[in-house]
Amino acid sequence: MLTEEQKEELVQTALQAQKWSYSPYSKYAVGAAVRTASGRIYDGANIENAAYPTSICAERVAAFKAVFEGEREIQAVAVVTRNGGTPCGSCRQVLAEFGLQAVVLIADESGTILQETSVAELLPGAFTPEKLG
Ligand code: THU
Repeated sequence: MLTEEQKEELVQTALQAQKWSYSPYSKYAVGAAVRTASGRIYDGANIENAAYPTSICAERVAAFKAVFEGEREIQAVAVVTRNGGTPCGSCRQVLAEFGLQAVVLIADESGTILQETSVAELLPGAFTPEKLG
């Protein structure tokens, strides 16, 4: 469970991260922040490329930063866009790997939380590591 202060901190971190978005093609800036079991917060923004498919979403930048720092459990993620965009399918799958039960906060650029859900709710029937035996 996250306290209201922790939610606010995560959303504000995602809001700051959105400023680092490199999105000259879509012009759709996304900021994300993940909170891990250790209580640390990792931020990310979408980074696009002239070769469009090589772009990466904000959520995956944040999640991969966390994992690369040794984190293995994501407890919550905040996503900030101008209009309450939700994580794409690929990001849902990456988040499921490290936090199927993670809380997902969808916020806008004013920092208002528009939707509070979970990775499990966003990705029913997720393919998880257990399936591999
Ligand atoms: N995008 C994200 O960063 N996260 C999502 O989950 C949805 C989409 C980015 C990818 C691309 O840079 C831009 O938003 C428009 O699709």
